[in-house]
Amino acid sequence: MKTENKNAIITGANSGIGLALTHKLLAEGYNVFGTSRSGLIADLTHEHLKVFRVDIMDGELINAAVVEIDAAGLKIDLLVNNAGVAPDVFDEEPEISALDETFATNVKGTVFFTEAILPLLNHAAQVLFISSNMSLPKNIAANGPAYRMSKAAVNVYAMTLAQRLESRNIRVTPVHPGWVQTRLGGEMAPYTTAQSAEGIFTAIQQNTENGKFWNIMAGGIEEY
Ligand SMILES: NC(=O)c1ccc[n+]([C@@H]2O[C@H](COP(=O)([O-])OP(=O)(O)OC[C@H]3O[C@@H](n4cnc5c(N)ncnc54)[C@H](OP(=O)(O)O)[C@@H]3O)[C@@H](O)[C@H]2O)c1
Repeated sequence: MKTENKNAIITGANSGIGLALTHKLLAEGYNVFGTSRSGLIADLTHEHLKVFRVDIMDGELINAAVVEIDAAGLKIDLLVNNAGVAPDVFDEEPEISALDETFATNVKGTVFFTEAILPLLNHAAQVLFISSNMSLPKNIAANGPAYRMSKAAVNVYAMTLAQRLESRNIRVTPVHPGWVQTRLGGEMAPYTTAQSAEGIFTAIQQNTENGKFWNIMAGGIEEY
């Protein structure tokens, strides 16, 4: 880790959009703390990358990562809440186990991972939530009820956080990453993970507004 670099932490850094964004942030000169449930990111080692074993539903693992970063005297400039699941995107009727898994991961896990990281954030840091345009009221369709509700909940949490952190000059942004070729997005998706990571990085660099939803396909803020 280089002390003059900005420090980023990204959840679910082992797969899909999270992995592509990890590559992008490293290429842009960030130190990256990547989390994965295995503690590994296959085929990626870098002198400015440290991988933590974190399940965002496991408070003890989250706390261990926080303690280690804090003990090293490091502050976080960019938090990317990327980890997420979507078990019901092809279903229309809510199903209990899918709803439980979706809310436990996308809402509870995301919220309490974020809360644990807040004390480590630098003044003027950025917090991103990889959300989905499927959550916007104007885009609602019948499929994926739990997924859509979970991302809508995250958007609202992001907006509350934006106001809470204003005095620390921290900018909070829910982001639609495009429909992307990943395990979650499927093979039919039009965007590659590298394209998505480029778009997310544009949002990191260009979005100066706090608490607004950013759509990388539009290259800007999208109203509800
Ligand atoms: N792909 C799309 O078209 C699309 C569109 C809109 C939004 N998104 C959002 O983009 C984000 C990334 O998804 P992706 O498309 O890149 O799918 P992906 O390849 O399936 O990646 C999902 C990541 O989340 C991690 N994860 C899931 N549950 C976790 C938990 N409890 N604790 C820690 N990590 C966990 C996964 O870890 P494991 O590898 O261990 O399972 C994996 O690293 C998600 O939030 C998703 O909702 C994707």
